[in-house]
Amino acid sequence: MIVECTTALPQDADADTVVVGVLDGEKVHHDVDGVLNGLVSAGEAKAKHRHLAVAHAGAKRWVLVGLGKRDELDGERVRLAAASALGRARELGAKRLCWEVPHKVDIEIAAAVVEGTLLTGYRFERFKSKPAEDGAGLQALVVSAHDDLADVVAEAEIVARAVNAARNLQNTPANEMAPRHLADAARVLGELDGVTVEVEGRDGLERLGMGSFAAVARGSVEEPALITLRYEGPQPQGPVLGLVGKAVTFDSGGISIKNANKMFEMKFDMSGGAAVLGAIEAIAELKLPVRVVAVVGATENMPAGNAVKPGDVVTAANGTTIEIINTDAEGRLVLADCLTHAVNEGAERLVDIATLTGSIITALGNTHAGLFAGDDDWAEQVAAAGSATGETVWRLPLHDDYAKALDSDTADLMNVNETRKAGSSVAAQFLLRFTAEVPWAHLDIAGTAWGAGKPYAAKGGSGWGVRLFVELARSLAR
Ligand code: BES
Ligand code: MN
Ligand code: ZN
Repeated sequence: MIVECTTALPQDADADTVVVGVLDGEKVHHDVDGVLNGLVSAGEAKAKHRHLAVAHAGAKRWVLVGLGKRDELDGERVRLAAASALGRARELGAKRLCWEVPHKVDIEIAAAVVEGTLLTGYRFERFKSKPAEDGAGLQALVVSAHDDLADVVAEAEIVARAVNAARNLQNTPANEMAPRHLADAARVLGELDGVTVEVEGRDGLERLGMGSFAAVARGSVEEPALITLRYEGPQPQGPVLGLVGKAVTFDSGGISIKNANKMFEMKFDMSGGAAVLGAIEAIAELKLPVRVVAVVGATENMPAGNAVKPGDVVTAANGTTIEIINTDAEGRLVLADCLTHAVNEGAERLVDIATLTGSIITALGNTHAGLFAGDDDWAEQVAAAGSATGETVWRLPLHDDYAKALDSDTADLMNVNETRKAGSSVAAQFLLRFTAEVPWAHLDIAGTAWGAGKPYAAKGGSGWGVRLFVELARSLAR
């Protein structure tokens, strides 16, 4: 789908179908022969959020979509409305779809039209012999507004395409998305202005003393990849942002093997890493004036004769010894060394992102990601970025009691608490040990990374976190 921008009226736009928002108590501004407002007065078109009505006038098809009350309008409402409108437009065979941006709204509304439409339009068809019939015909989105919104629209397009790129990484099955494939995807980003990429394999992990990360990788025949990306924008401002992503390309559980139910979904256990790569892509293409160091820890977690065993003790890069009680709590083992690495590489603020615990799904479902943070200001800044993009987070506690639950008889730390109580907080508490007092926030996205049920990302990987990170980077530069 290509994206265009016009200041022409919707009825004059080069499109077969036009989407017009209906706001509570307001008329449609650019009517055609009274047809559209006729539909509103007849009650067929409504301001009720996401309500749909269809009309034909002036040789075009019109989709009227409810946007609710003007003073409650925000980006997320518009993304959701755009998802509904696109669904109907597709059913009706639209080829060129024009969206009329409501009058006198913030530019974030226009950006949300683009994001909502491009994210909804995403399909993962790499392994389909034939593309699905719906949507195959849709070729263009034309954004119509009184003002020239070309810059806003182009930026939103960059962001949405980066989210969809992250979704491609997520949705690709583990046999085609091993650590080396993620490393290849990162190397492609190295071609963008301001981006450099380094990849270390098994030997590199050993050399850097990353006994924790290396332990997870040991049972896999696939070479792990420690991927480090640096981005330096023009006249960079603010602290160096450290982004750390868990990228377990397949999590079988290892020797503490998972049961077969839904094990296939563990191809998505690299979603944190995918979000970090998508964020770097967007941040670099937007040329944001910031500095970022991004670390993606990519490995499989597999059982094998040489795999790490429950009870084994390993030494992390910061010297902490870890007794591995359960090899299925592998994400924190990978992140431990990646956090140390990000700090060593100069990160002054840290956010890690990981499909870390099943417990977070029990606590928060698919609605919020879990947020854990030692530093209140940093927690607020991360949460605010999520509110702005509709990737909402909910802060959960850290506490000394959770830390004590990880005391080991043999080593400095165990990787799980034996009771499994407060599993997400205990996992976060584990990570805190590797943050070297740099302001840090942890996002547990096990519930939001895939199948999260947002209408604009209804199936498969959601790309959750890409937009939040872009917004966070923007906020650091403000
Ligand atoms: N990748 C999983 C977490 C997960 C589970 C994400 C289900 C999405 C859906 C993680 O590596 C894991 O296995 N966590 C364990 C930790 C436990 C052994 C303490 C869990 O949550 O069960
Ligand atoms: Mn696991
Ligand atoms: Zn995992």
